[in-house]
Amino acid sequence: MKVQVEITTRCNFACFYCAGRLLRQGDMPFETLSDLLGRHVARHGVPTEISLQGEGEPTLHRDFFRMAKLVRELGAQPYTITNGSYQQPEHFIGRFDRVGVSVDTLDEAAAQAIGRRNLPRTLNFVQTLGAHLQVVIHSVRNGQHTPAVAAWCKQQGYVHIVQPLQTKPDYSRRYLKQPPAGPSGRFSCHFLAQPQMRYFSLDGTEMPCCFIKDLSAYPGLGDMLQKQQTGNWPKCCAGCRVAARPVAKPVR
Ligand SMILES: C[S@@+](CC[C@H](N)C(=O)[O-])C[C@H]1O[C@@H](n2cnc3c(N)ncnc32)[C@H](O)[C@@H]1O
Ligand code: SF4
Ligand code: SF4
Repeated sequence: MKVQVEITTRCNFACFYCAGRLLRQGDMPFETLSDLLGRHVARHGVPTEISLQGEGEPTLHRDFFRMAKLVRELGAQPYTITNGSYQQPEHFIGRFDRVGVSVDTLDEAAAQAIGRRNLPRTLNFVQTLGAHLQVVIHSVRNGQHTPAVAAWCKQQGYVHIVQPLQTKPDYSRRYLKQPPAGPSGRFSCHFLAQPQMRYFSLDGTEMPCCFIKDLSAYPGLGDMLQKQQTGNWPKCCAGCRVAARPVAKPVR
């Protein structure tokens, strides 16, 4: 099982598609992380990977590298996705084997328009890390710019993960007048049928996935597992395209 923890919702960028800009802004205390990981390990064993990242910029957390050290001490691989604005990339070397960096475009004006400020600094961050560890570039799919980013990743030897712009209302209320209708029929989600991950939001709430941003609609993990049995849709899953997809192979 993999674990992802939202250690902060604060950010120094302003991406138009980011649900985090509408969330309460704050940091998770180090002790909260330590406690929740301790409880998780006691119940489920050591996760293969613990990603320190939610709807904010993880490197803004003053305990970010202390948190990464804690992850290693637990025996898990630390991972993160960053916007690449951190000014001392060398601090990652020896502390992470893999680091995700978000790059949607190689065009500075286009990056600014998205809200991804200071593309040159991000690219410098990527270049410094790329000489020492595995860089994973995360791009939000953009017909015009993604092919150039893909070619650059191939040339530089970076792993490239492209994801479509979210249509789930939790996110898309910022940029879609009317989100497309999601799947309907009997509710089923492989995140519940075969637990692959646990997501902990800023306040430490445990969730089956990272796609639930409206906590007021979240009934809790126990209720979610019950809904998986009965086929009734939880409110927090409305519009989620992951629901009703074929069951994926378990991730170890
Ligand atoms: C929420 S960010 C947090 C980490 C860091 N601040 C960053 O931007 O890399 C994590 C990843 O989610 C992606 N993301 C954010 N909002 C999205 C949306 N509405 N649709 C698809 N991907 C999104 C970002 O581009 C980034 O690669
Ligand atoms: S850099 Fe990351 S957290 Fe910040 S606004 Fe963009 S997607 Fe959101
Ligand atoms: S349907 Fe979507 S939001 Fe609901 S548990 Fe599955 S992945 Fe998460």
